[in-house]
Amino acid sequence: MRSLACLLPAVLCGVVYAQSSVTVSTTSGTLRGIEQDGVMSFKGIRFAEPPTGSLRWEPPVPFLSTATHNATILSPACVQQFAFAGANLSEFLFNNPQDPPVENEDCLFLFVPAIVHARVC
Ligand SMILES: *[C@@H]1O[C@H](CO)[C@@H](O)[C@H](O)[C@H]1NC(C)=O
Ligand SMILES: *[C@@H]1O[C@H](CO)[C@@H](O)[C@H](O)[C@H]1NC(C)=O
Repeated sequence: MRSLACLLPAVLCGVVYAQSSVTVSTTSGTLRGIEQDGVMSFKGIRFAEPPTGSLRWEPPVPFLSTATHNATILSPACVQQFAFAGANLSEFLFNNPQDPPVENEDCLFLFVPAIVHARVC
């Protein structure tokens, strides 16, 4: 599994600016994020293959890509247990009170904010 520490140098060193859109090359592909108020934001970065099917209960398998990915929207959160009074099993498994966040078993994604003028080295 790739750690965040391996991704950050790519985010901070491989930046190409274009108006409010910003792209960075990583081993997970070219990520197209946004830059706003001095902060670059890359959301929904898949770092592992979906942990479903034959990969369920297995160690994460790194996601490698050369494609360009839209990194402007958050990906689903992992399914959470949310203990609230009166919850039945369905509510427990899918954290389903009034306005549930999007949750999915396929949830191995990162959200990486980075300061535009940060220096590495
Ligand atoms: C990226 O996703 C956002 C949110 O769904 C959408 O508004 C935008 O058009 C997409 N950008 C590209 C290049 O597909
Ligand atoms: C359990 O919660 C789900 C989601 O709110 C609901 O659709 C379902 O009817 C509930 N089942 C029972 C037995 O209360």
